[in-house]
Amino acid sequence: MCINYESICMSQLNYDVLIIGSGVAGLSLALRLADTHKVALLSKVSITEGSSRYAQGGVAAVIDKDDSIKLHVSDTFDAGAQMCDKDVVAMVAKKSGGCIEWLQKLDVQFTKDLDRHGNERLHLTQEGGHSQRRIAHVDDATGKEIIYKLVDLAKNHENIDIYEHHIVVDLIKSKSDKKATCRGAYVLDKKSDNIRVFKATNTVLATGGASKVYLYTSNPDCSTGDGIAMAWRAGCRIANMEFNQFHPTCLYHPKAKSFLISEAVRGEGGKLVLPNGEPFMHKYDEREELAPRDIVARAIDNEMKTRGLESVYLDISHKGENFVKEHFPTIYKKCLKFGFDLSKERIPVVPAAHYTCGGVVTNETGATDLPGLYAVGEVAYTGMHGANRLASNSLMECLVFAKAAAKAIKDSELEHVEYEIPEWDESQVTDSDEAVVVLHNWDEIRRSMWDYVGIVRTDKRLERAASRIALLQNEIHEYYWNFKVNSDLIELRNLVLVAELIVSSAMSRRESRGLHYSLDYPDKMIRPLPTVLDPKK
Ligand code: FAD
Ligand code: SIN
Repeated sequence: MCINYESICMSQLNYDVLIIGSGVAGLSLALRLADTHKVALLSKVSITEGSSRYAQGGVAAVIDKDDSIKLHVSDTFDAGAQMCDKDVVAMVAKKSGGCIEWLQKLDVQFTKDLDRHGNERLHLTQEGGHSQRRIAHVDDATGKEIIYKLVDLAKNHENIDIYEHHIVVDLIKSKSDKKATCRGAYVLDKKSDNIRVFKATNTVLATGGASKVYLYTSNPDCSTGDGIAMAWRAGCRIANMEFNQFHPTCLYHPKAKSFLISEAVRGEGGKLVLPNGEPFMHKYDEREELAPRDIVARAIDNEMKTRGLESVYLDISHKGENFVKEHFPTIYKKCLKFGFDLSKERIPVVPAAHYTCGGVVTNETGATDLPGLYAVGEVAYTGMHGANRLASNSLMECLVFAKAAAKAIKDSELEHVEYEIPEWDESQVTDSDEAVVVLHNWDEIRRSMWDYVGIVRTDKRLERAASRIALLQNEIHEYYWNFKVNSDLIELRNLVLVAELIVSSAMSRRESRGLHYSLDYPDKMIRPLPTVLDPKK
Protein backbone atom coordinates (compact mmCIF):
# COMPACT_ATOMS: atom_id res chain seq x y z
CA MET A 1 0.00 0.00 0.00
CA CYS A 2 1.31 3.49 -0.79
CA ILE A 3 0.83 5.71 2.24
CA ASN A 4 -0.11 9.35 2.04
CA TYR A 5 0.76 11.19 5.25
CA GLU A 6 -2.21 13.54 5.02
CA SER A 7 -4.39 10.58 5.91
CA ILE A 8 -2.42 9.75 9.07
CA CYS A 9 -2.90 11.93 12.10
CA MET A 10 -0.58 10.12 14.53
CA SER A 11 2.88 11.69 14.72
CA GLN A 12 4.35 8.41 15.98
CA LEU A 13 3.81 5.31 13.86
CA ASN A 14 4.08 1.74 15.08
CA TYR A 15 5.22 -1.28 13.05
CA ASP A 16 6.47 -4.80 13.65
CA VAL A 17 9.30 -4.20 11.19
CA LEU A 18 10.71 -0.99 9.74
CA ILE A 19 12.65 -1.64 6.52
CA ILE A 20 14.78 1.28 5.37
CA GLY A 21 15.38 0.91 1.63
CA SER A 22 13.41 -0.54 -1.27
CA GLY A 23 16.08 -2.18 -3.43
CA VAL A 24 16.21 -5.94 -3.99
CA ALA A 25 17.25 -6.42 -0.33
CA GLY A 26 14.45 -4.35 1.23
CA LEU A 27 11.67 -5.43 -1.12
CA SER A 28 12.41 -9.14 -0.97
CA LEU A 29 12.64 -8.98 2.82
CA ALA A 30 9.32 -7.12 3.04
CA LEU A 31 7.59 -9.74 0.86
CA ARG A 32 9.01 -12.61 2.89
CA LEU A 33 7.82 -11.05 6.17
CA ALA A 34 4.44 -9.70 5.18
CA ASP A 35 2.45 -12.91 5.72
CA THR A 36 2.99 -12.55 9.47
CA HIS A 37 4.30 -9.02 10.15
CA LYS A 38 3.12 -5.47 9.62
CA VAL A 39 5.92 -3.79 7.66
CA ALA A 40 6.80 -0.16 6.88
CA LEU A 41 8.98 0.05 3.75
CA LEU A 42 10.78 3.37 3.29
CA SER A 43 12.60 4.91 0.36
CA LYS A 44 14.20 8.33 0.45
CA VAL A 45 13.41 8.65 -3.25
CA SER A 46 10.78 6.90 -5.37
CA ILE A 47 10.08 3.27 -4.53
CA THR A 48 11.76 1.90 -7.69
CA GLU A 49 14.96 3.97 -7.38
CA GLY A 50 18.24 2.49 -6.10
CA SER A 51 21.20 0.59 -7.54
CA SER A 52 19.06 -2.55 -7.87
CA ARG A 53 16.95 -1.00 -10.59
CA TYR A 54 20.04 -0.41 -12.77
CA ALA A 55 21.58 -3.88 -12.43
CA GLN A 56 22.41 -5.16 -15.88
CA GLY A 57 24.52 -8.34 -15.87
CA GLY A 58 22.32 -10.48 -13.63
CA VAL A 59 22.25 -12.78 -10.60
CA ALA A 60 25.00 -15.36 -10.03
CA ALA A 61 23.61 -18.80 -9.20
CA VAL A 62 24.73 -22.41 -9.36
CA ILE A 63 22.26 -23.77 -11.91
CA ASP A 64 24.19 -25.32 -14.79
CA LYS A 65 24.89 -29.06 -14.52
CA ASP A 66 28.61 -28.46 -15.17
CA ASP A 67 28.76 -25.93 -12.31
CA SER A 68 29.09 -26.65 -8.58
CA ILE A 69 28.96 -24.95 -5.19
CA LYS A 70 32.66 -25.67 -4.88
CA LEU A 71 33.48 -23.83 -8.11
CA HIS A 72 31.33 -20.82 -7.20
CA VAL A 73 32.98 -20.64 -3.77
CA SER A 74 36.44 -20.90 -5.27
CA ASP A 75 35.76 -18.20 -7.92
CA THR A 76 34.31 -15.88 -5.25
CA PHE A 77 37.26 -16.50 -2.91
CA ASP A 78 39.72 -15.89 -5.73
CA ALA A 79 38.08 -12.63 -6.85
CA GLY A 80 37.89 -11.59 -3.17
CA ALA A 81 41.71 -11.98 -2.93
CA GLN A 82 41.41 -14.78 -0.34
CA MET A 83 39.58 -12.59 2.16
CA CYS A 84 36.02 -13.92 1.89
CA ASP A 85 34.40 -15.89 4.69
CA LYS A 86 34.18 -19.32 3.04
CA ASP A 87 31.22 -20.47 5.18
CA VAL A 88 29.21 -17.42 4.18
CA VAL A 89 30.09 -17.83 0.49
CA ALA A 90 29.14 -21.52 0.62
CA MET A 91 25.83 -20.67 2.33
CA VAL A 92 25.01 -18.10 -0.37
CA ALA A 93 26.07 -20.38 -3.24
CA LYS A 94 23.96 -23.25 -1.82
CA LYS A 95 20.86 -21.07 -1.54
CA SER A 96 21.35 -19.31 -4.89
CA GLY A 97 19.30 -21.75 -7.01
CA GLY A 98 16.35 -21.58 -4.56
CA CYS A 99 16.32 -17.78 -4.74
CA ILE A 100 16.18 -17.84 -8.54
CA GLU A 101 13.22 -20.25 -8.30
CA TRP A 102 11.54 -17.88 -5.80
CA LEU A 103 11.89 -15.01 -8.29
CA GLN A 104 10.52 -17.19 -11.09
CA LYS A 105 7.51 -18.05 -8.92
CA LEU A 106 6.95 -14.31 -8.56
CA ASP A 107 6.91 -14.21 -12.38
CA VAL A 108 10.34 -12.65 -13.01
CA GLN A 109 10.95 -13.50 -16.68
CA PHE A 110 14.59 -14.56 -16.91
CA THR A 111 16.06 -14.87 -20.43
CA LYS A 112 15.82 -18.44 -21.73
CA ASP A 113 17.39 -20.49 -24.51
CA LEU A 114 17.21 -24.10 -25.68
CA ASP A 115 19.60 -26.91 -24.79
CA ARG A 116 20.81 -29.30 -27.49
CA HIS A 117 17.73 -31.52 -27.00
CA GLY A 118 15.46 -28.54 -27.67
CA ASN A 119 14.41 -28.14 -24.02
CA GLU A 120 13.95 -24.64 -22.64
CA ARG A 121 16.40 -23.57 -19.92
CA LEU A 122 17.70 -20.37 -18.32
CA HIS A 123 20.29 -18.63 -20.49
CA LEU A 124 23.38 -18.13 -18.33
CA THR A 125 25.84 -15.41 -19.23
CA GLN A 126 29.50 -15.04 -18.28
CA GLU A 127 31.30 -12.28 -16.40
CA GLY A 128 34.82 -11.54 -15.13
CA GLY A 129 36.23 -13.93 -12.51
CA HIS A 130 33.61 -16.65 -13.17
CA SER A 131 35.05 -19.94 -14.42
CA GLN A 132 31.56 -20.98 -15.61
CA ARG A 133 28.54 -19.45 -17.29
CA ARG A 134 26.61 -18.76 -14.10
CA ILE A 135 24.65 -15.53 -14.44
CA ALA A 136 20.85 -15.69 -14.72
CA HIS A 137 19.67 -12.48 -16.38
CA VAL A 138 16.83 -10.65 -18.06
CA ASP A 139 18.58 -9.45 -21.24
CA ASP A 140 20.75 -6.55 -20.00
CA ALA A 141 18.11 -5.05 -17.69
CA THR A 142 17.88 -7.65 -14.92
CA GLY A 143 17.43 -5.20 -12.04
CA LYS A 144 14.58 -3.35 -13.71
CA GLU A 145 12.56 -6.53 -14.29
CA ILE A 146 13.08 -7.76 -10.71
CA ILE A 147 12.38 -4.40 -9.05
CA TYR A 148 9.19 -3.72 -11.02
CA LYS A 149 7.83 -7.20 -10.19
CA LEU A 150 8.66 -6.89 -6.48
CA VAL A 151 7.31 -3.33 -6.23
CA ASP A 152 4.06 -4.42 -7.82
CA LEU A 153 3.63 -7.21 -5.28
CA ALA A 154 4.56 -4.96 -2.34
CA LYS A 155 2.12 -2.25 -3.44
CA ASN A 156 -0.68 -4.77 -3.47
CA HIS A 157 0.11 -6.34 -0.10
CA GLU A 158 -2.09 -5.19 2.76
CA ASN A 159 0.63 -5.76 5.36
CA ILE A 160 3.22 -3.57 3.62
CA ASP A 161 2.92 0.21 3.96
CA ILE A 162 5.16 2.02 1.50
CA TYR A 163 6.55 5.47 2.31
CA GLU A 164 8.30 7.09 -0.66
CA HIS A 165 10.43 10.25 -0.36
CA HIS A 166 10.98 9.57 3.34
CA ILE A 167 14.59 9.87 4.44
CA VAL A 168 15.75 8.40 7.73
CA VAL A 169 17.77 10.88 9.76
CA ASP A 170 18.92 8.54 12.51
CA LEU A 171 18.11 5.32 14.31
CA ILE A 172 16.44 5.41 17.72
CA LYS A 173 18.12 3.48 20.50
CA SER A 174 16.58 2.77 23.88
CA LYS A 175 18.70 4.15 26.64
CA SER A 176 16.94 2.80 29.70
CA ASP A 177 17.35 -0.97 29.14
CA LYS A 178 20.44 -2.71 30.42
CA LYS A 179 21.18 -3.71 26.85
CA ALA A 180 20.58 -1.01 24.27
CA THR A 181 18.05 -1.94 21.60
CA CYS A 182 17.05 -0.36 18.32
CA ARG A 183 13.48 0.96 18.54
CA GLY A 184 12.95 2.51 15.12
CA ALA A 185 14.02 5.75 13.47
CA TYR A 186 13.47 9.47 13.05
CA VAL A 187 12.28 10.04 9.49
CA LEU A 188 12.00 13.23 7.44
CA ASP A 189 9.03 13.34 5.06
CA LYS A 190 10.65 15.28 2.23
CA LYS A 191 7.33 16.54 0.88
CA SER A 192 5.79 17.89 4.08
CA ASP A 193 9.16 18.69 5.72
CA ASN A 194 8.06 17.04 8.98
CA ILE A 195 10.11 14.67 11.06
CA ARG A 196 8.15 11.72 12.42
CA VAL A 197 8.96 8.84 14.72
CA PHE A 198 8.67 5.34 13.24
CA LYS A 199 8.61 2.87 16.13
CA ALA A 200 9.38 -0.78 15.35
CA THR A 201 10.19 -4.00 17.18
CA ASN A 202 12.80 -4.75 14.51
CA THR A 203 14.49 -2.31 12.14
CA VAL A 204 16.38 -3.28 8.98
CA LEU A 205 18.94 -1.21 7.10
CA ALA A 206 18.64 -2.01 3.39
CA THR A 207 20.05 1.34 2.32
CA GLY A 208 22.54 0.21 -0.35
CA GLY A 209 26.11 1.34 -0.80
CA ALA A 210 28.21 4.50 -0.60
CA SER A 211 29.78 4.89 -4.06
CA LYS A 212 28.44 8.44 -4.30
CA VAL A 213 31.35 9.37 -2.05
CA TYR A 214 33.40 9.34 -5.28
CA LEU A 215 33.16 11.98 -8.01
CA TYR A 216 32.54 9.45 -10.78
CA THR A 217 30.20 6.55 -10.05
CA SER A 218 27.92 4.12 -11.84
CA ASN A 219 25.46 4.45 -8.93
CA PRO A 220 22.30 6.53 -8.68
CA ASP A 221 22.29 9.61 -6.42
CA CYS A 222 20.87 7.75 -3.41
CA SER A 223 24.05 5.70 -2.74
CA THR A 224 25.33 8.02 0.00
CA GLY A 225 26.14 5.40 2.64
CA ASP A 226 23.35 6.54 5.01
CA GLY A 227 22.90 3.10 6.57
CA ILE A 228 26.60 2.69 7.29
CA ALA A 229 26.78 6.13 8.90
CA MET A 230 23.60 5.60 10.96
CA ALA A 231 24.77 2.20 12.19
CA TRP A 232 28.15 3.67 13.20
CA ARG A 233 26.45 6.45 15.15
CA ALA A 234 24.26 3.80 16.82
CA GLY A 235 27.39 1.95 17.99
CA CYS A 236 27.74 -0.86 15.40
CA ARG A 237 31.05 -2.09 14.01
CA ILE A 238 31.87 -1.34 10.38
CA ALA A 239 34.31 -3.48 8.36
CA ASN A 240 36.45 -3.44 5.19
CA MET A 241 35.58 0.06 4.02
CA GLU A 242 38.87 0.39 2.12
CA PHE A 243 37.54 -2.05 -0.48
CA ASN A 244 35.46 0.14 -2.77
CA GLN A 245 35.00 -1.49 -6.14
CA PHE A 246 35.58 0.44 -9.37
CA HIS A 247 33.73 -0.99 -12.35
CA PRO A 248 36.16 -1.06 -15.29
CA THR A 249 33.76 0.01 -18.03
CA CYS A 250 31.46 3.02 -17.84
CA LEU A 251 30.66 4.99 -20.97
CA TYR A 252 32.92 8.02 -21.33
CA HIS A 253 30.74 10.90 -22.44
CA PRO A 254 30.10 14.24 -20.69
CA LYS A 255 26.35 13.59 -20.52
CA ALA A 256 26.36 9.83 -19.83
CA LYS A 257 26.83 10.21 -16.01
CA SER A 258 29.07 7.11 -15.93
CA PHE A 259 26.49 4.86 -17.59
CA LEU A 260 27.55 1.24 -16.97
CA ILE A 261 28.58 -1.02 -19.83
CA SER A 262 27.93 -4.45 -18.39
CA GLU A 263 30.77 -6.86 -17.79
CA ALA A 264 28.63 -9.32 -19.76
CA VAL A 265 29.75 -7.40 -22.88
CA ARG A 266 33.28 -8.62 -22.15
CA GLY A 267 31.84 -11.98 -21.08
CA GLU A 268 30.34 -12.37 -24.54
CA GLY A 269 33.59 -11.48 -26.35
CA GLY A 270 34.09 -7.69 -26.03
CA LYS A 271 37.77 -6.62 -26.20
CA LEU A 272 39.44 -3.68 -24.46
CA VAL A 273 41.71 -1.72 -26.80
CA LEU A 274 43.87 1.41 -26.92
CA PRO A 275 43.06 4.30 -29.30
CA ASN A 276 45.25 2.64 -31.96
CA GLY A 277 43.19 -0.56 -31.70
CA GLU A 278 45.85 -2.56 -29.80
CA PRO A 279 44.52 -4.91 -27.08
CA PHE A 280 46.31 -4.62 -23.72
CA MET A 281 44.69 -6.92 -21.12
CA HIS A 282 47.05 -9.83 -21.99
CA LYS A 283 49.86 -7.80 -20.36
CA TYR A 284 48.07 -7.82 -16.99
CA ASP A 285 46.37 -11.19 -16.54
CA GLU A 286 46.07 -14.45 -18.44
CA ARG A 287 42.28 -14.26 -18.15
CA GLU A 288 42.55 -10.97 -20.10
CA GLU A 289 39.14 -9.20 -20.33
CA LEU A 290 37.63 -11.79 -17.96
CA ALA A 291 39.99 -11.18 -15.06
CA PRO A 292 38.28 -9.97 -11.86
CA ARG A 293 37.27 -6.30 -11.81
CA ASP A 294 40.03 -4.96 -9.59
CA ILE A 295 42.64 -6.21 -12.06
CA VAL A 296 40.84 -4.89 -15.17
CA ALA A 297 40.11 -1.47 -13.59
CA ARG A 298 43.75 -1.10 -12.46
CA ALA A 299 45.00 -2.08 -15.92
CA ILE A 300 42.79 0.55 -17.59
CA ASP A 301 43.83 3.16 -15.01
CA ASN A 302 47.49 2.37 -15.69
CA GLU A 303 47.12 2.57 -19.48
CA MET A 304 45.26 5.88 -19.17
CA LYS A 305 47.75 7.42 -16.74
CA THR A 306 50.95 6.29 -18.45
CA ARG A 307 49.75 7.19 -21.96
CA GLY A 308 47.83 10.34 -20.97
CA LEU A 309 44.52 8.99 -22.36
CA GLU A 310 41.04 10.24 -21.54
CA SER A 311 39.62 6.74 -21.99
CA VAL A 312 40.28 3.32 -23.48
CA TYR A 313 37.83 1.56 -25.83
CA LEU A 314 35.57 -1.48 -25.66
CA ASP A 315 34.86 -3.29 -28.91
CA ILE A 316 32.20 -5.97 -29.49
CA SER A 317 31.35 -4.94 -33.06
CA HIS A 318 32.90 -8.18 -34.42
CA LYS A 319 29.90 -10.10 -32.99
CA GLY A 320 27.58 -8.43 -35.48
CA GLU A 321 24.44 -6.35 -35.28
CA ASN A 322 21.93 -9.11 -34.49
CA PHE A 323 23.98 -10.52 -31.62
CA VAL A 324 24.59 -7.10 -30.05
CA LYS A 325 20.97 -5.99 -30.34
CA GLU A 326 19.65 -9.28 -29.01
CA HIS A 327 22.00 -9.57 -26.03
CA PHE A 328 22.38 -5.92 -25.06
CA PRO A 329 19.25 -4.04 -26.15
CA THR A 330 19.36 -1.48 -23.32
CA ILE A 331 23.06 -0.72 -23.63
CA TYR A 332 22.80 -0.58 -27.42
CA LYS A 333 19.96 1.98 -27.28
CA LYS A 334 21.64 4.08 -24.60
CA CYS A 335 24.94 4.23 -26.53
CA LEU A 336 23.09 5.20 -29.69
CA LYS A 337 21.57 8.13 -27.76
CA PHE A 338 25.10 9.39 -27.17
CA GLY A 339 26.12 8.87 -30.80
CA PHE A 340 27.85 5.46 -30.54
CA ASP A 341 26.70 2.37 -32.45
CA LEU A 342 27.86 -0.54 -30.27
CA SER A 343 27.15 -3.01 -33.08
CA LYS A 344 29.42 -1.20 -35.55
CA GLU A 345 32.13 0.59 -33.61
CA ARG A 346 34.17 0.57 -30.42
CA ILE A 347 32.98 2.80 -27.56
CA PRO A 348 35.06 4.92 -25.11
CA VAL A 349 35.08 3.56 -21.53
CA VAL A 350 36.57 4.54 -18.14
CA PRO A 351 36.35 3.03 -14.64
CA ALA A 352 33.99 4.51 -12.01
CA ALA A 353 33.14 3.76 -8.36
CA HIS A 354 30.60 0.96 -8.36
CA TYR A 355 30.21 -1.08 -5.19
CA THR A 356 30.94 -0.84 -1.43
CA CYS A 357 32.39 -4.21 -0.36
CA GLY A 358 32.59 -3.16 3.29
CA GLY A 359 29.72 -2.12 5.54
CA VAL A 360 27.84 -2.84 8.74
CA VAL A 361 29.12 -6.03 10.36
CA THR A 362 26.42 -8.72 10.49
CA ASN A 363 26.16 -12.41 11.27
CA GLU A 364 24.73 -15.01 8.88
CA THR A 365 21.17 -13.81 9.53
CA GLY A 366 21.87 -10.14 8.89
CA ALA A 367 21.81 -9.25 12.63
CA THR A 368 24.10 -6.35 13.60
CA ASP A 369 25.76 -5.59 16.94
CA LEU A 370 22.65 -3.72 18.11
CA PRO A 371 19.70 -5.94 19.12
CA GLY A 372 16.64 -5.17 17.01
CA LEU A 373 18.78 -3.90 14.10
CA TYR A 374 19.56 -5.89 10.95
CA ALA A 375 21.50 -4.89 7.83
CA VAL A 376 20.88 -6.59 4.49
CA GLY A 377 22.25 -5.97 0.98
CA GLU A 378 25.06 -3.66 -0.07
CA VAL A 379 24.97 -1.79 3.27
CA ALA A 380 26.16 -4.93 5.08
CA TYR A 381 29.51 -6.57 5.58
CA THR A 382 28.69 -10.27 5.76
CA GLY A 383 32.10 -11.66 4.77
CA MET A 384 30.81 -12.61 1.30
CA HIS A 385 32.93 -10.33 -0.88
CA GLY A 386 36.32 -10.08 0.83
CA ALA A 387 38.67 -7.61 -0.85
CA ASN A 388 36.76 -7.51 -4.16
CA ARG A 389 33.24 -8.59 -5.11
CA LEU A 390 32.77 -11.17 -7.85
CA ALA A 391 30.42 -9.90 -10.58
CA SER A 392 26.71 -10.54 -10.02
CA ASN A 393 27.21 -11.84 -6.49
CA SER A 394 25.55 -8.76 -4.99
CA LEU A 395 21.96 -9.34 -6.03
CA MET A 396 22.34 -12.94 -4.91
CA GLU A 397 23.65 -11.83 -1.51
CA CYS A 398 20.66 -9.44 -1.19
CA LEU A 399 18.21 -12.29 -1.89
CA VAL A 400 19.83 -14.91 0.33
CA PHE A 401 20.34 -12.60 3.31
CA ALA A 402 16.83 -11.16 3.00
CA LYS A 403 15.50 -14.70 3.33
CA ALA A 404 17.76 -15.43 6.31
CA ALA A 405 16.85 -12.15 8.03
CA ALA A 406 13.13 -12.79 7.50
CA LYS A 407 13.46 -16.15 9.25
CA ALA A 408 15.51 -14.64 12.10
CA ILE A 409 12.95 -11.84 12.60
CA LYS A 410 10.08 -14.34 12.58
CA ASP A 411 11.90 -16.53 15.13
CA SER A 412 13.07 -13.55 17.19
CA GLU A 413 12.13 -13.35 20.83
CA LEU A 414 12.36 -9.59 20.82
CA GLU A 415 8.99 -8.37 22.00
CA HIS A 416 7.16 -5.19 21.27
CA VAL A 417 7.79 -2.81 24.19
CA GLU A 418 5.82 0.40 24.70
CA TYR A 419 8.69 2.78 24.84
CA GLU A 420 8.49 6.54 25.22
CA ILE A 421 10.30 8.21 22.35
CA PRO A 422 10.76 11.97 22.41
CA GLU A 423 9.65 13.97 19.39
CA TRP A 424 12.36 15.47 17.18
CA ASP A 425 13.45 18.76 18.77
CA GLU A 426 13.95 21.68 16.39
CA SER A 427 13.62 24.44 18.99
CA GLN A 428 17.34 25.31 18.91
CA VAL A 429 17.87 25.45 15.14
CA THR A 430 17.13 27.99 12.41
CA ASP A 431 16.67 27.85 8.63
CA SER A 432 20.02 27.92 6.87
CA ASP A 433 20.90 31.05 4.94
CA GLU A 434 24.06 29.46 3.50
CA ALA A 435 22.89 26.41 1.56
CA VAL A 436 25.87 26.87 -0.75
CA VAL A 437 28.09 25.43 2.00
CA VAL A 438 26.35 22.07 1.61
CA LEU A 439 26.87 22.05 -2.15
CA HIS A 440 30.50 23.07 -1.86
CA ASN A 441 31.28 20.43 0.78
CA TRP A 442 29.57 17.69 -1.27
CA ASP A 443 31.84 18.50 -4.21
CA GLU A 444 34.95 18.75 -2.11
CA ILE A 445 34.45 15.35 -0.44
CA ARG A 446 33.76 13.58 -3.73
CA ARG A 447 36.69 15.17 -5.55
CA SER A 448 39.15 14.49 -2.68
CA MET A 449 38.04 10.86 -2.54
CA TRP A 450 38.45 10.46 -6.30
CA ASP A 451 41.87 12.15 -6.41
CA TYR A 452 43.42 10.70 -3.25
CA VAL A 453 41.55 7.49 -2.32
CA GLY A 454 40.95 6.01 -5.77
CA ILE A 455 42.17 2.98 -7.70
CA VAL A 456 45.85 3.52 -6.80
CA ARG A 457 46.72 4.91 -3.35
CA THR A 458 49.79 6.13 -1.47
CA ASP A 459 50.31 7.13 2.17
CA LYS A 460 50.75 10.74 1.12
CA ARG A 461 47.50 10.83 -0.86
CA LEU A 462 45.61 9.19 2.02
CA GLU A 463 47.06 11.70 4.52
CA ARG A 464 45.97 14.56 2.26
CA ALA A 465 42.45 13.13 2.09
CA ALA A 466 42.36 12.56 5.86
CA SER A 467 43.25 16.15 6.71
CA ARG A 468 40.72 17.63 4.27
CA ILE A 469 37.97 15.30 5.49
CA ALA A 470 38.70 16.15 9.14
CA LEU A 471 38.17 19.87 8.37
CA LEU A 472 34.97 19.13 6.47
CA GLN A 473 33.74 16.91 9.34
CA ASN A 474 34.00 19.82 11.80
CA GLU A 475 32.28 22.26 9.49
CA ILE A 476 29.44 19.86 8.64
CA HIS A 477 29.00 18.86 12.28
CA GLU A 478 28.54 22.48 13.31
CA TYR A 479 26.20 23.18 10.41
CA TYR A 480 24.09 20.09 11.24
CA TRP A 481 23.51 21.10 14.85
CA ASN A 482 22.68 24.74 14.08
CA PHE A 483 20.37 24.51 11.10
CA LYS A 484 17.12 22.74 10.24
CA VAL A 485 17.86 19.44 8.52
CA ASN A 486 16.97 18.75 4.93
CA SER A 487 17.71 15.84 2.65
CA ASP A 488 20.99 17.28 1.26
CA LEU A 489 22.35 18.00 4.72
CA ILE A 490 21.39 14.54 6.02
CA GLU A 491 23.21 12.91 3.11
CA LEU A 492 26.24 15.21 3.41
CA ARG A 493 26.61 14.38 7.10
CA ASN A 494 26.55 10.66 6.22
CA LEU A 495 28.84 11.01 3.23
CA VAL A 496 31.60 12.75 5.20
CA LEU A 497 31.47 10.09 7.90
CA VAL A 498 31.68 7.31 5.32
CA ALA A 499 34.63 9.10 3.66
CA GLU A 500 36.38 9.19 7.04
CA LEU A 501 35.75 5.46 7.59
CA ILE A 502 37.11 4.62 4.11
CA VAL A 503 40.25 6.71 4.60
CA SER A 504 41.03 5.40 8.07
CA SER A 505 40.48 1.78 6.92
CA ALA A 506 42.74 2.39 3.91
CA MET A 507 45.43 3.93 6.12
CA SER A 508 45.44 0.92 8.40
CA ARG A 509 45.89 -1.66 5.60
CA ARG A 510 49.61 -1.92 4.97
CA GLU A 511 49.48 -4.20 1.94
CA SER A 512 47.98 -4.28 -1.55
CA ARG A 513 45.05 -6.64 -1.85
CA GLY A 514 42.02 -6.74 -4.10
CA LEU A 515 40.58 -3.26 -4.44
CA HIS A 516 43.07 -1.65 -2.07
CA TYR A 517 46.27 -1.01 -4.03
CA SER A 518 49.02 1.09 -2.41
CA LEU A 519 52.27 2.04 -4.15
CA ASP A 520 53.87 2.19 -0.67
CA TYR A 521 52.90 -1.40 0.21
CA PRO A 522 52.81 -3.37 -3.06
CA ASP A 523 52.99 -6.82 -1.39
CA LYS A 524 50.33 -9.00 0.20
CA MET A 525 50.36 -9.95 3.90
CA ILE A 526 50.44 -13.65 4.65
CA ARG A 527 47.44 -13.73 6.96
CA PRO A 528 45.13 -10.89 6.02
CA LEU A 529 42.42 -9.86 8.46
CA PRO A 530 39.33 -7.75 7.82
CA THR A 531 39.62 -4.10 8.89
CA VAL A 532 37.06 -3.77 11.66
CA LEU A 533 36.34 -0.29 13.05
CA ASP A 534 34.50 -0.08 16.36
CA PRO A 535 32.83 3.22 17.36
CA LYS A 536 33.05 2.21 21.02
CA LYS A 537 36.85 2.06 20.92
P1 FAD B 1 19.70 -0.36 -3.43
O1 FAD B 1 19.08 -1.09 -4.54
O2 FAD B 1 20.77 0.61 -3.75
O3 FAD B 1 18.53 0.40 -2.64
C1 FAD B 1 18.82 1.30 -1.61
C2 FAD B 1 17.51 1.82 -1.05
O4 FAD B 1 17.76 2.48 0.18
C3 FAD B 1 16.80 2.84 -1.94
O5 FAD B 1 15.41 2.57 -1.88
C4 FAD B 1 17.06 4.17 -1.22
O6 FAD B 1 16.05 5.13 -1.43
C5 FAD B 1 17.05 3.71 0.22
N1 FAD B 1 17.73 4.59 1.17
C6 FAD B 1 19.05 4.86 1.28
N2 FAD B 1 19.27 5.69 2.32
C7 FAD B 1 18.06 5.94 2.88
C8 FAD B 1 17.62 6.74 3.97
N3 FAD B 1 18.48 7.47 4.71
N4 FAD B 1 16.31 6.78 4.25
C9 FAD B 1 15.41 6.08 3.51
N5 FAD B 1 15.77 5.31 2.47
C10 FAD B 1 17.08 5.24 2.15
N6 FAD B 1 24.91 -6.49 -8.85
C11 FAD B 1 24.69 -7.74 -9.30
O7 FAD B 1 24.70 -8.69 -8.53
N7 FAD B 1 24.42 -7.94 -10.63
C12 FAD B 1 24.39 -6.93 -11.53
O8 FAD B 1 24.14 -7.14 -12.71
C13 FAD B 1 24.65 -5.61 -11.08
N8 FAD B 1 24.66 -4.57 -11.93
C14 FAD B 1 24.79 -3.30 -11.43
C15 FAD B 1 24.69 -2.21 -12.30
C16 FAD B 1 24.73 -0.92 -11.80
C17 FAD B 1 24.62 0.25 -12.74
C18 FAD B 1 24.88 -0.70 -10.41
C19 FAD B 1 24.92 0.69 -9.85
C20 FAD B 1 25.03 -1.78 -9.55
C21 FAD B 1 24.98 -3.08 -10.05
N9 FAD B 1 25.10 -4.19 -9.21
C22 FAD B 1 24.89 -5.44 -9.69
C23 FAD B 1 25.19 -4.01 -7.77
C24 FAD B 1 23.79 -4.20 -7.17
O9 FAD B 1 22.84 -3.67 -8.08
C25 FAD B 1 23.64 -3.51 -5.83
O10 FAD B 1 24.69 -3.87 -5.00
C26 FAD B 1 22.33 -3.96 -5.18
O11 FAD B 1 21.27 -3.71 -6.07
C27 FAD B 1 22.10 -3.23 -3.88
O12 FAD B 1 20.78 -3.50 -3.49
P2 FAD B 1 20.25 -2.93 -2.12
O13 FAD B 1 18.86 -3.42 -1.99
O14 FAD B 1 21.22 -3.26 -1.04
O15 FAD B 1 20.29 -1.33 -2.29
C1 SIN C 1 27.65 -5.60 -14.75
O1 SIN C 1 26.67 -5.94 -15.40
O2 SIN C 1 28.80 -5.49 -15.21
C2 SIN C 1 27.48 -5.33 -13.30
C3 SIN C 1 27.48 -6.60 -12.58
C4 SIN C 1 27.76 -6.39 -11.13
O3 SIN C 1 28.03 -5.30 -10.65
O4 SIN C 1 27.77 -7.42 -10.44
